[in-house]
Amino acid sequence: MNILLIGSGGREHALAWSMAASPLCDRLFVAPGNPGTAQQGENVALDVTDHAAVIAFCRRESIDFVVVGPEAPLVAGLVDDLAAAGIKAFGPTRAAAQLEGSKAFTKDFCAEFGIPTAAYRRFTDAEAAKTYLRNYGVPIVVKADGLAAGKGVVVATSFEEAEAAVDAMLGGSFGEAGAEVVIEAYLEGEEASFFALCDGKTAIPFGTAQDHKRVHDGDEGPNTGGMGAYSPAAVLTPELQSRVMREIIEPTLAGMRARGTPYTGILYAGLMLTKDGPQLIEYNARLGDPETQVLLPRLKSDLVTAFLAACDGVLDSISLQWRPEAALTVVMAAKGYPGPVEKGSEIRGIAQAEGMEDVIVFHAGTKQEGDRIVSQGGRVLNVTALGTTITAAQKRAYEAVARIDWPEGFCRHDIGWRAVERERG
Ligand code: AMP
Ligand code: GLY
Repeated sequence: MNILLIGSGGREHALAWSMAASPLCDRLFVAPGNPGTAQQGENVALDVTDHAAVIAFCRRESIDFVVVGPEAPLVAGLVDDLAAAGIKAFGPTRAAAQLEGSKAFTKDFCAEFGIPTAAYRRFTDAEAAKTYLRNYGVPIVVKADGLAAGKGVVVATSFEEAEAAVDAMLGGSFGEAGAEVVIEAYLEGEEASFFALCDGKTAIPFGTAQDHKRVHDGDEGPNTGGMGAYSPAAVLTPELQSRVMREIIEPTLAGMRARGTPYTGILYAGLMLTKDGPQLIEYNARLGDPETQVLLPRLKSDLVTAFLAACDGVLDSISLQWRPEAALTVVMAAKGYPGPVEKGSEIRGIAQAEGMEDVIVFHAGTKQEGDRIVSQGGRVLNVTALGTTITAAQKRAYEAVARIDWPEGFCRHDIGWRAVERERG
């Protein structure tokens, strides 16, 4: 079949790499793609916010299946519009993607269906929000309701910080996303990510991971989209995973179905493992970036078959096989990230890194200029390695990083530290 993948990041390079290897895949197109996806299929310069243009492309190229990587097109209803045009697409509908698109929606949903999450209140009025904060105490968490590219959450340790967050969000600095805020209780524990593949009624586990959001070693500095990740997350023991399925994922599928908006696609639960058990921090309606870059290298089963089974509502008839090895990815970013960065510096040594066994370099913000690869954004490469343990995967990933010659870039040097400490015992 012919497949169109939507997106352009490291996650999409990993998806393209997996799908291109499928016996079901004839031609693979990626819109808009990056130089990494261009090695797996054909990049196409489509404006993916123009749903009519995407549909026209699908008809012209006889696309049988569309896979949507990022959240924005899901929340914008691309899957709904493709379905209305008779084109099969992987990912939730606009209504189901509200689980990522609106924090207020998700908190109300959790309350209705008894899904464990931090206690919360919703506000559209700044004075009312501040009165609540003052009475509640710190630490406390202030969140913009809508999509804010990971920047809409402030974990405040003082009233001043919490009030400033309320003023910034309700004051319009997040546009529509900040028309409402959610204020919630601070949860204490270790964070981990759990992924489930869903077909509207059945969910099957799709792996675990942990990422590193802060820009500097030792989890210091500002938040980023993610500086590295590893899978599996041993902190999510088999017992805890069953609990997450039973207490969080399954009630979510049942609730979405009861509401007439069944959830199909990947459901990505950001969890806090508290002393009272796993609590939902947030849902994402898609695979993570860079988590995908460590999940897919571990997947033995055919990804296209699995995604099709989700779309066709037959997940109860398949099971997924995973490699026993661990995977770890190190994000190489342009100096200055997550602030402004310079583009256009040349990156050498990618082939030397990829020459190592069990190493894959996924492209994110890169650009092909003649026969050179140059930087084109903040997060630029994901250097990924497999190993018998996280410790072994980490060693191999950093050996591969050392082969990459890019003076204008940087990475963290401690990706995986929690798991490495755990393995050391
Ligand atoms: P989110 O975008 O909702 O995943 O939040 C971003 C980050 O803020 C999370 O990864 C957590 O580190 C932190 N965070 C969000 N909500 C809470 C909470 N209720 N308690 C503690 N930390 C939180
Ligand atoms: N790495 C976090 C995310 O994809 O949302």
